[in-house]
Amino acid sequence: MADLDDVKEGKNFAAEIPMEVRASAIRGANALDWGMQDRLSRIFQAGSGHTVMLAFDHGYFQGPATGLERLDLSIRPLIPYTDVLMCTRGGLRATIPTDSRKPVVLRCSGGMSVLTELSNELVAVDIEDAIRVNAAAITTNVYIGAEYEHQSLANLVKLIDTGNRYGIPTMAVTGVGKNMARDARYFGLATRICAEIGAQIVKSYFVDDGFEKVCAGCPVPIVIAGGKKLPEMEALQMAYHAIDQGAAGVDMGRNIFQSDCPIGMIEAVRAVVHGGEKPEKAIEIYSSAKAALH
Ligand code: R5P
Repeated sequence: MADLDDVKEGKNFAAEIPMEVRASAIRGANALDWGMQDRLSRIFQAGSGHTVMLAFDHGYFQGPATGLERLDLSIRPLIPYTDVLMCTRGGLRATIPTDSRKPVVLRCSGGMSVLTELSNELVAVDIEDAIRVNAAAITTNVYIGAEYEHQSLANLVKLIDTGNRYGIPTMAVTGVGKNMARDARYFGLATRICAEIGAQIVKSYFVDDGFEKVCAGCPVPIVIAGGKKLPEMEALQMAYHAIDQGAAGVDMGRNIFQSDCPIGMIEAVRAVVHGGEKPEKAIEIYSSAKAALH
């Protein structure tokens, strides 16, 4: 009869201590339900509030992209160094060990290829399958100003509504149509539209001029795509400036897995994103890891 024995006076309710109300450290997350906040907390790290996502979803429209011909060989060794795996369900199931313990941001769009119109996407993963692989977030592209703008926004709405139903956040990726200007005005427009529609994370490209305004105008965390392969120092400078101007992290692919020392590069990126390290110091991490290869 333990339950009845427990009903007595004299318990310590510490009535003199006000109950602490904790605000979420993640931008825009305060009003979200517990499961949604829990998943976002697995993506954005407690100490810095930032994230290093490793993007290797390129195959969903590029096929065997350079550096991703063998996900088992190129990506598996990087798993211990990333905060998040950003990938397709096919790549995940075929090559990522189930004991990796890393949250997955699941690519949930598809339906086009490098040979056709990129903005002509559809939702290509059912929410049940996202739950089945324990996704921490789901993601699709939006193509503001492109031929299939409306359809890509409809895809985003569908992901957000189904994600909200199950407490799974949605990351909107601002894809850029072939003839779009890649400037702060464009990304300010695109990222804000995504956040207003309800995306809990927005991915943008970094721009040299005015990126701080893009971040300031977006009420949810922005992570930057790495874009095409740059010299390592330039990629670290880009990451540094992005964080310094308000980004909450990177979702970087080619600048890591196409590097001649991917582990050294992702460690250097981590130093910038989580430690606020200057690129001139962070490059030393990459350089010494590269030197150790020989
Ligand atoms: C497009 O292929 C995907 O959304 C990538 O995940 C995204 O572009 C980030 O990868 P990268 O840093 O290579 O641009």
